[in-house]
Amino acid sequence: MIVGIDLGTTTSLVAAIKDGKPTLILNERGKTITPSVVGFSETGELLVGEAAKNQAIAHPDRTVSSIKRIMGTNQRVTLGGKEYTPQEVSALILAKLKRDAEGYFGQPVSEAVITVPAYFTDAQRQATKDAGEIAGFKVERIINEPTAAALAYGFQHKEETKTILVYDFGGGTFDVSIIKMVEGAFKVLASSGNNRLGGDDFDQVVADYLHEQFKETEGVDLKNIEDEKMRLSIGQRINEAAEKAKIDLSTLLETNVNIPFLYSEGDEPKHLDVTITRAEFEEMTEHLIEATRKPVEEAFESSGLDNAGIEIVILVGGTTRMPTVKRFVTDLLDREPLTEIHPEECVAIGAAVQAGVKVGQLDDLVVVDVAPYTLGIEVIDDRFSPIIYANTAIPCSQKRRYVTTSDYQTEANIHVLQGNHKRSSRNTSLGEFVLTGITPKPKGEAVVEVIFDYDVNGIVNVTARDRDSGAKKNIIIKQSKERMGLDEKEDARDMVSNVTFAPSSGMSETGDVQMVEDDTISVTASKEQEGKSSAQIEAEFYLNDARDFLTDKGDNIPSQMKTQIEDTVKQLENAINANDEEKIDKLSDTLLMQLSDADIAT
Ligand SMILES: Nc1ncnc2c1ncn2[C@@H]1O[C@H](COP(=O)(O)OP(=O)(O)OP(=O)(O)O)[C@@H](O)[C@H]1O
Ligand SMILES: [Mg+2]
Repeated sequence: MIVGIDLGTTTSLVAAIKDGKPTLILNERGKTITPSVVGFSETGELLVGEAAKNQAIAHPDRTVSSIKRIMGTNQRVTLGGKEYTPQEVSALILAKLKRDAEGYFGQPVSEAVITVPAYFTDAQRQATKDAGEIAGFKVERIINEPTAAALAYGFQHKEETKTILVYDFGGGTFDVSIIKMVEGAFKVLASSGNNRLGGDDFDQVVADYLHEQFKETEGVDLKNIEDEKMRLSIGQRINEAAEKAKIDLSTLLETNVNIPFLYSEGDEPKHLDVTITRAEFEEMTEHLIEATRKPVEEAFESSGLDNAGIEIVILVGGTTRMPTVKRFVTDLLDREPLTEIHPEECVAIGAAVQAGVKVGQLDDLVVVDVAPYTLGIEVIDDRFSPIIYANTAIPCSQKRRYVTTSDYQTEANIHVLQGNHKRSSRNTSLGEFVLTGITPKPKGEAVVEVIFDYDVNGIVNVTARDRDSGAKKNIIIKQSKERMGLDEKEDARDMVSNVTFAPSSGMSETGDVQMVEDDTISVTASKEQEGKSSAQIEAEFYLNDARDFLTDKGDNIPSQMKTQIEDTVKQLENAINANDEEKIDKLSDTLLMQLSDADIAT
């Protein structure tokens, strides 16, 4: 059987379709919410959830929380003297949810849909999928948390046509998505967010304040106690008190934080006793709420909508329980958020709905999500050449052609990056490999095709191919062993066999792939690409290149060359209008060559 899982930074939930309806599964303590905390007891027993959370103060060195914050990185955590990767720790949480679901249904649960923040990168998604597999699940789908929230709403309102904004402020991440729902079909128009902004940050601000207050009244800096275990334990007590104070202040105007016997100097016990008002708290944390404004504006910009275009606002995540957050969202969007959606439960419910659709338990919902980041490759002079733009509907596949920059070059380095900057060095590297076996030709004549395939989970497969020889290489973009902290040697070897690093020896020459593309084309949102064929989208890359080239450098090349380019541009525009695929393809090629020659001539 299949379940939907909301694997959260602070809490996790699991749900499944029961009697035709998405239902939250109770854990062995009879609760729907399981803390995302893992630990080992003194006797070495594995603890997950409530039990692990309960020992966090006594044994901070044997307890791990908020692991989601480092998913997709090479960081490791030490638990009871042993090192674990973030995906291994997450797998322990997922395995516990799996056992709970099996206990609840009395049958094996082998498949899962797992949610991730919409703004999770490729590496973070891959790490989450790996975690699911380590836990023994077949991961049927990775879906975005805001999309899941919209599904939870849509399941109840299948007949409606509405534009929804989901504002998801959880324990560790902030996400915003704008989703169009048309009678059970969901299309994500835009997503944005911040993967390192959440309730944990509010706790931190309050904890820092408590430390300061203690230092002022007692003269002891608790962050600098020498005994590490004691320091961690006191830090944990203060963090928990800070979170509790924060939650109290969502309903109270004032709260007292009282931790007796927090520390002792000699025989003299010292207590923490601080009163915080809601006004003080709101002032301390205002910047954190303000930080959500930009992603919302970005989502508006890439969807081409504004406030007026939004019909429903859904609040997701525990942090949206704060009155200031509600006020902020209401002001920002000029609309009261919906109250019928449960902010902590809706993501798991939506994941269960998606799971139900996947196995045919539910049949009338369709979801189209988008790529959260722009992806492309590095080309000559540190320029970045985008191939798939942020907010393009997925799954999708996009091809671009490039030409060589050195005479008789037989290898090309394909460096895959994510980001919006014109300079490759300012974007995030996802991986690189060398395409070998390029047919030796004068520079600018050998054509390399680079193809990006984005799957429904938001995971990317990159292929590069020499058009003449057919020589081909491809990688699934996964972080390298070092960066990801994967244990399996197989994986690392896989990468290495695909990646031969330049410079090479012998006769072959390695060069960059030349970009005949300009940097200034604005982001083509999925909206603009809708209904166009892949060849048309590709041709538009070159048309943009050509127009910009003519504007920037048109006067520096022989006039005959310029006329030829102008002529090809016209023909290509006509071919696009006429929908003539074959002609589009041929003319794209001609234009690419002409631009390459022109580039060399300048
Ligand atoms: N009443 C409340 N007022 C303020 N904050 C709250 C309240 N209830 C819960 N929170 C905070 O909400 C956060 C947890 O929210 P949630 O369970 O939605 O996050 P998550 O799913 O674990 O995280 P993420 O989605 O970022 O991975 C915690 O930081 C918690 O302190
Ligand atoms: Mg969440």
